[in-house]
Amino acid sequence: MRLFHALASPFVRKVVVLLKETGQETAVTLVPVAGNAVDPGTMPVAQNPLGKIPTLEREDGTALYDSRVICRYLDDRAGGRLYPAAPRLWETLTLEATADGIMDAAVLMRYEVITRDEDKRSAAWLEGQWAKISRTLDVLEARWMSHLSGPLDMGQVAVGCALGYLDFRLADRDWRAGHPQLADWYAAFAARDSMKATAPA
Ligand code: BEZ
Repeated sequence: MRLFHALASPFVRKVVVLLKETGQETAVTLVPVAGNAVDPGTMPVAQNPLGKIPTLEREDGTALYDSRVICRYLDDRAGGRLYPAAPRLWETLTLEATADGIMDAAVLMRYEVITRDEDKRSAAWLEGQWAKISRTLDVLEARWMSHLSGPLDMGQVAVGCALGYLDFRLADRDWRAGHPQLADWYAAFAARDSMKATAPA
């Protein structure tokens, strides 16, 4: 299989962490790509008309996307380790979607900064994206610490990758302020081999 990827993407990182945690690294060849909304460059438009990553091309040539579909597929292939049985499954999926929402908002902030000259950026729009992230961090701190401290699952992996992306691209926002339990949890989670090996640089 081929995974079209860029390691700076937190969505790609979810998939690569899953591959490492489930012992499937050798099953997938990583294909680096680059592009943007203006110029798709080498993005996998033949496999995914949206030209987005991660996209996974399977041995029979069929493609899977987005990251949640790919992660579910690869976990199933490994015997179902990171998506537990219901009813915990519903929490895991909700937590994964919550973390993906942080990534969505953070990546939009990143693109606003790198694709627009400073005088054309919307401060209100940037703050609106950060408000989404800030509210979500509050909810993780208030309601999700018990789940985060439970058995490893894809919800935890997604939160770890989302927080890692905040450190990578939005460090000046200091997400740890006001979220001490989440900060402690992340310090331990980021020390996993799978996370250390995939840290964006
Ligand atoms: C980044 O460089 O921040 C990035 C790259 C690819 C996808 C998303 C984010």
